[in-house]
Amino acid sequence: MSALGPLYPAGMSQPSQAGAPAQLPAPVRIGLLGCGNVGAAFFSIVADGQSGVASRTGMPLEVVKVAVRDPSRPRPGLGGSGLGGLLVADPWAVVADAEVELVVELMGGVEPARSLVLAALEAGKPVVTANKELVAACHGELAAAAEASGVDFLYEASVAGAIPLVRLLKDSLAGERIVRIMGIVNGTTNYILTRMSEEGIGYGAALAEAQALGYAEAEPSADVEGYDAAAKAAILAAIAFDAEVVSSDVYREGITSVGASDIDFAKRLGYEVKLLAITEREGEDEPVSVRVHPAMIPRAHPLASVRDSFNAVFVEGEAAGELMVYGRGAGGRPTASAVLGDVIEAAHHLREQSRPRTSRRRTTRLRPISELRSQYYLSLEVLDRPGVLAAVATVFGSCGVSIRSMEQVGLRHEARLVFVTHTALEADVQATAAGLEQLESVERVTCLLRLVGSEEEAR
Ligand SMILES: NC(=O)c1ccc[n+]([C@@H]2O[C@H](COP(=O)([O-])OP(=O)(O)OC[C@H]3O[C@@H](n4cnc5c(N)ncnc54)[C@H](OP(=O)(O)O)[C@@H]3O)[C@@H](O)[C@H]2O)c1
Repeated sequence: MSALGPLYPAGMSQPSQAGAPAQLPAPVRIGLLGCGNVGAAFFSIVADGQSGVASRTGMPLEVVKVAVRDPSRPRPGLGGSGLGGLLVADPWAVVADAEVELVVELMGGVEPARSLVLAALEAGKPVVTANKELVAACHGELAAAAEASGVDFLYEASVAGAIPLVRLLKDSLAGERIVRIMGIVNGTTNYILTRMSEEGIGYGAALAEAQALGYAEAEPSADVEGYDAAAKAAILAAIAFDAEVVSSDVYREGITSVGASDIDFAKRLGYEVKLLAITEREGEDEPVSVRVHPAMIPRAHPLASVRDSFNAVFVEGEAAGELMVYGRGAGGRPTASAVLGDVIEAAHHLREQSRPRTSRRRTTRLRPISELRSQYYLSLEVLDRPGVLAAVATVFGSCGVSIRSMEQVGLRHEARLVFVTHTALEADVQATAAGLEQLESVERVTCLLRLVGSEEEAR
């Protein structure tokens, strides 16, 4: 028996009273896997009788069992919520419980989450998750299991927390031919780059600040090396282009090689530096490009003004044109809000016994990064002596990369040369960078950034 109010057999309604509002269906009984940042926030919204979820949505919900690693650990803020009586250490006990009608997975990681979600779907229980790692790695398998059982597998919160992006692409833009999606989908790196841009501080100082504020983990590589954004880019590409794309298909670079001077130079040219997740396809039968890397984006572009830990995703559709969604991409309550939206949708399908809509994923050709055409920014540390510039220019020329502008920064023995190229092929620019590093007078190529947007927007 649940500690969260009365239970009614599946599909049965509460008894009505004369003059009472329209009857609500019986509460949908939820099994929760994980009660950490997001799980605890989700639990408290559902458990809070004052939250008005049932009256707003017509769908009462009830959490009946919760799996955590350590049920004996104190759960601050949840004392008196009835959680204590629902906790178990075995997640399989939640999935297998006959009372549980719908499973919410908020544990994280691929295993055992994958096996648990698969078992729930095969047992005909809809699943809602916020787990980007799981969705990016196993979407095809889990969506097929959901389709076979005729139940929902929903993952709105896995891409950009509270921002309703999956539903925007799947529902509102269902018939739209998507051309390109560019997103700031990692709040940690956006916070670091914002501080570097606005305070002129270096990467290390900005990272330390983000860690002190709890925006970055003590071991920050999942964020700063772009792994988190790559998982989200894979999910976005999969939805936008009905494509079989997993995290490891995504070209990925993080922000660790971006210096304060690169950001300063970009600003002088009218750009901001942002870590972008980009997926695009030129035509229906063309290969899909999906990548994550820091990029110079013109100051007038809407993504350039997305500051601090906020997320935003800019979508370009053939008929819809350009649109952008903006908001909190992480945090317990914002993420729980997106989970709740999915739970309400799945609960309605469950009570109405309607089959959810499905979409077919197709095996897709991916465009390798070497075929990208873009403008580039390159920064080099060189020895300050005669003839360096001529040698450097020769390497650009021999690789077929045309220079749009060049600036020398620094004096004495060491100097920095910064170049912006005209549109060039990535393979040629990589060959240029490799050729430059072979020159005796070049210490190293310190930074290579791609430019996005138009030159007009940068002015
Ligand atoms: N936090 C965010 O802002 C955010 C945003 C978007 C998406 N997400 C995604 O949401 C999911 C949850 O994130 P979170 O931040 O809430 O994680 P979290 O705070 O680490 O919570 C994980 C929960 O799962 C439980 N758990 C983990 N492994 C388990 C196992 N094998 N058996 C039973 N319970 C287990 C933990 O138990 P204990 O409490 O006993 O340790 C904990 O309650 C992740 O997939 C994450 O990527 C998070």
